[in-house]
Amino acid sequence: MEKIKETAAYLKEKTGFTPETGIILGSGLGGLVKSIDVQHSFDYSDIPNFPVSTVEGHDGKLIFGFLEGKKVVAMQGRFHYYEGYSMQQVVFPIRVMKILGITHLFLSNAAGGLNPSFSAGDLMIIKDHINMFPDNPLIGKNMDELGTRFPEMGEAFSRELIEKAKKIAEKNNIKYHTGVYVGSSGPTLETPAEYRMFRILGADSTGMSTVPEVIAARHMGLTCFGISVITNMAVFDEGEIGTSHDEVQNAAGEAQPKMTLIFRELIKNI
Ligand code: HPA
Repeated sequence: MEKIKETAAYLKEKTGFTPETGIILGSGLGGLVKSIDVQHSFDYSDIPNFPVSTVEGHDGKLIFGFLEGKKVVAMQGRFHYYEGYSMQQVVFPIRVMKILGITHLFLSNAAGGLNPSFSAGDLMIIKDHINMFPDNPLIGKNMDELGTRFPEMGEAFSRELIEKAKKIAEKNNIKYHTGVYVGSSGPTLETPAEYRMFRILGADSTGMSTVPEVIAARHMGLTCFGISVITNMAVFDEGEIGTSHDEVQNAAGEAQPKMTLIFRELIKNI
């Protein structure tokens, strides 16, 4: 808690900024930053107590500015559990953003498509999640200042924002799906048997992020909205060829203008 407050105080002093919405941009999805009228930008390595992102394609910047006239703070690149960070480290920036004043958290991720009706390059508005990480960021002594011991997760993703997002997509002729995201540790992609298992469990997309952040955000009462960019389709059959990291990055690049539009329009109307 002391570290969270120390980091928030540092950023507050440097920026004088009170953001309303936090945004997390996933792998290859940093393009939204071009739409932000940037006021302040920090390399993660320059922020006291921040972990440092290590994966290729993750820029590692915290950006303060205006998006459609609204005050936002955006993470270009996030911290993944598979990089070796603890859950506490993974969600540290979310807690700092909450102390800085955000009420809403927007999350994006690159994900594998489990629902056979999806294709690479599609968007999925996340309506719910399944935590398959072997951990949870709220394990340990509860930080009562931030939230309750047993947070309710009945509406992890805001139904109101989902409905608004669907209308925005329809108005702009953007193809979308809604579905359940399952998060697991990675860094391995799933075996065909694991992809099949996740599908049987009721998930439509799978990735290595988002779930810990949403858990921490809901603990603190933040309203969440998330989009999966489907970068590859699950390989359900042991005979099929799997996905490369390059394919994931390319599909993310193609789909990101659509995701950016939905985020912008939603944030404009919060
Ligand atoms: N599985 C897990 N994480 C992912 C995938 C996947 O197929 N694609 C992009 N991130």
